[in-house]
Amino acid sequence: MTESVPEVASAPDRQAAQAPEQTDAPTYVLEARDVSKHFTVRGPLGRTSVVRAVEDATVRLRPGQILALVGESGSGKTTLARMLARFHEPTQGEILLRGEPVTGSRRAQRAYHSEVQLIFQDPFGALNPLHRVRYNLDRALRLHQPHLTAAGREQRMTELLERVSLTPAAEFAAKFPHELSGGQRQRVVIARALAVEPKVLLGDEPISMLDVSIRLEMLNLLQRLRTEDGLALLYITHDIAGARYLCDEIAVMYAGQMVESGPKEEVISSPQHPYTKLLIESSPDPERGVGDRDELFAGADELGEPPSLIDPPTGCRFHPRCPFAMPECATEAPPRTELGDGHWATCWLHVKGRAGELAETTHAAATGARRGTLQEAS
Ligand SMILES: Nc1ncnc2c1ncn2[C@@H]1O[C@H](COP(=O)(O)OP(=O)(O)OP(=O)(O)O)[C@@H](O)[C@H]1O
Ligand code: SF4
Ligand SMILES: [Mg+2]
Repeated sequence: MTESVPEVASAPDRQAAQAPEQTDAPTYVLEARDVSKHFTVRGPLGRTSVVRAVEDATVRLRPGQILALVGESGSGKTTLARMLARFHEPTQGEILLRGEPVTGSRRAQRAYHSEVQLIFQDPFGALNPLHRVRYNLDRALRLHQPHLTAAGREQRMTELLERVSLTPAAEFAAKFPHELSGGQRQRVVIARALAVEPKVLLGDEPISMLDVSIRLEMLNLLQRLRTEDGLALLYITHDIAGARYLCDEIAVMYAGQMVESGPKEEVISSPQHPYTKLLIESSPDPERGVGDRDELFAGADELGEPPSLIDPPTGCRFHPRCPFAMPECATEAPPRTELGDGHWATCWLHVKGRAGELAETTHAAATGARRGTLQEAS
């Protein structure tokens, strides 16, 4: 299990994206290959615009691996997860389950959702409030495990509730969602996801709405599921400390694009993209535990707001906010640079031999220096 490594790539690396067919690498259980999602929206005056929510993103998950997807609000994380869950059809690119493209038939969709389950941020919204836990779980079992008898479903329900530490199971099965705490509700949601015996869980900030005191317990539950069941997990989070605790690899999204990915310790201790550096340096101290999302991005406003995805910046999308920006950053998209051990970043600093500057200064100091330069020039 430990030899498997999830990988994330961007469009410039199309050759690498085809690596599974060309090598003996184990099959990816789930892969989004060069996917984009554009939404057409209508403005107040009736004019239509296109929101480029995700552009040319590739995500690959192997069994038993946990990949954290981080990035500030609006960077496209949920849209990517919803494409992986097939709730959104990609505008471009394809989703592959065990290397096979998924067809649109109802049967194929159901089979797909037996393998890939999405867990939302809000556990209350995910459960039918009018029905007891028993009904919520039984429905999933009826749909995805049609071979089970009523007694078999009852037994499976007990196993599932025990699995997520909701014991005595019979007591919890009889409760309505509003009778449970937030943590208990999210456990029911996870139990329901497990009812279909998936191979992949897509967790869209699955613990962010839970009380801080039970987040660690939930992280341990997710960790156990990957160890015991070999589940692959895409873990979307704003919490770098939680990602560091749970995940093997971290992928960073900015304005709809993947900008960096690699082994978690490498990315956290030596970020190779200025935006990742900003995220890490503005994240709460891991020693203080799981942080608040507003706190995490408190430093991100230094050089302006995240860009519009209707009319994103040319060149590197981070250039209007980047303290390291060079003239070419405004006009040409940076290529992806491989940094070894599966770590890569898309930034001109690597191409221009200036990557050392990332380690030599803090993002805040570089921002101050850039502001000074801009003031002198004006
Ligand atoms: N159905 C939709 N129609 C139009 N625009 C959408 C739709 N869904 C998402 N978007 C836009 O796509 C962009 C990415 O949104 P997304 O929800 O994927 O970001 P996110 O990274 O998950 O943000 P957050 O951290 O706040 O959850 C945003 O600009 C959002 O407004
Ligand atoms: S490519 Fe340029 S603007 Fe983009 S992150 Fe790198 S230095 Fe900054
Ligand atoms: Mg989201």
